[in-house]
Amino acid sequence: MSHFHLRDGVTHCEDVPLPEIARAVGTPVFVYSANAMRAQARALRQALSSLDDPLIAYAVKANPNIAVLTTLAAEGLGADVVSGGEYKRARAAGIPTDRIVFSGVGKTAGEMRQALAGGLCQFNLESFVEAEMLSQVASAMGRTAPVAIRVNPDVDAGTHAKISTGAAHNKFGIPIGDTPAVCAALRSLPGVELRGLAVHIGSQLTSLAPLEKAIARLGSMIAQLRSEGHRIRVADLGGGLGVQYDPALPPPPSPGDYGAMVTRLTRGWDVRLIFEPGRLIVGNAGLLLTEVIRIKPGPKYPFVIVDAAMNDLMRPTLYDAWHEIQAVAPRGEEMTADVVGPVCESGDMFAVSRTMDRVEAGDLVAIRTAGAYAATMSNTYNSRALAPEVLVDGSDWALVRPRRDDEAFLADERVPDWLGRAPR
Ligand code: LLP
Repeated sequence: MSHFHLRDGVTHCEDVPLPEIARAVGTPVFVYSANAMRAQARALRQALSSLDDPLIAYAVKANPNIAVLTTLAAEGLGADVVSGGEYKRARAAGIPTDRIVFSGVGKTAGEMRQALAGGLCQFNLESFVEAEMLSQVASAMGRTAPVAIRVNPDVDAGTHAKISTGAAHNKFGIPIGDTPAVCAALRSLPGVELRGLAVHIGSQLTSLAPLEKAIARLGSMIAQLRSEGHRIRVADLGGGLGVQYDPALPPPPSPGDYGAMVTRLTRGWDVRLIFEPGRLIVGNAGLLLTEVIRIKPGPKYPFVIVDAAMNDLMRPTLYDAWHEIQAVAPRGEEMTADVVGPVCESGDMFAVSRTMDRVEAGDLVAIRTAGAYAATMSNTYNSRALAPEVLVDGSDWALVRPRRDDEAFLADERVPDWLGRAPR
């Protein structure tokens, strides 16, 4: 059951009518359902239940709000972090250090130091030069850093090019064929201890086939490394499972399908498996609530101009992403329109030639599947405020990030004294 549903003709998030939230905090605003996140976390855990002690490390980048992290920490999830900032958030949400995986191709020495001092499950390393840096940092601290090598399996993930990560030309991972040499070289580096391998081939995957291919390649590599005397204890299978954006398309594989595939492929591996889901957990647990400013006639279809824009939700313009758009109180009539924001770019659009609920100026509109890679990627282009975030839990709701308005941004900026001086 969706946690966003019509009740008495008005869309609710769980038990809270969306207009109540819009009245109280204004629009645009991101609205998240805590129970939708919990349901996804539980579905994945259930799907992986025949594995021995898997670690589900939620990819913080998908939605790093501290209230979201706290909700997921209470479900027993760990965290996959890619920056010192994300590491701090995971800790602030109470995620135990032994459930934190540090990924990312550009970890700095400072970030390595921070995570080593605070504690973590492992670093996923993406190059030998990175391993050398970690070796220096860890040795200087008198520590041994647990590491996994992220391999690049050269698999086409079949998703948008900008969110594919497992092809040979992508910046991510170590070419899988180089793994034995890199692992052998790791032996001579003090302060790092090889624990296993990791792979992540991309995001919003709508077929299991590329994942199967990548996991099979990882399995062969684990066997080869063992035959060369390495002790491989963990395999991190990354994230990437897609969610349904367009209800008219077939749904992506379910957590159950994914769990069955992983269980089948990894039988006998004798490792602890780690997973890094992001979008799967939070994508459909959020929406962007916005108000129609006005309807402007267009050459073919009208422009529905809403008060959210590309700075709030970049996905349509960045990845040609499709998000469902619904009236919060539908009239039972339809219209075809282009749904756009107020930003001064033609790319500032949420939908083109979309047949949707008929709306009028002043109506509230929900842009769905905005729980992942939405608020976290927002910015203040056109000096627009940062939209607030609200978390709903049953009939409770709270503002979990207030609107950051232009006054706050202006107050942060400085005019240097010398700008006021007479020209030289
Ligand atoms: N692990 C690693 C190493 C990753 O790079 C990512 C996502 C994940 C896990 C989580 O992937 P997920 O389960 O969420 O697919 N901004 C883009 C998505 C970028 C994904 C980046 N990495 C979007 O809006 O589609």
